[in-house]
Amino acid sequence: MTRWIAHDPILITKTKSGEIKAFLNSCTHRGTLLCSADSGKQKAFTCPYHGWTFSN
Ligand code: FES
Repeated sequence: MTRWIAHDPILITKTKSGEIKAFLNSCTHRGTLLCSADSGKQKAFTCPYHGWTFSN
């Protein structure tokens, strides 16, 4: 799921082992928003700008 904390976009995911992780919903390359969906099921997140892919 995605949420905002103040002005920061947050991406909350569940790993294969069941851990809950939270990250900035921002590509490490140029800061583009990685995921625009409110919620869903994805094993990886591909940046829409240049295509860098990040696992959950
Ligand atoms: S900004 Fe995300 S891959 Fe370049």
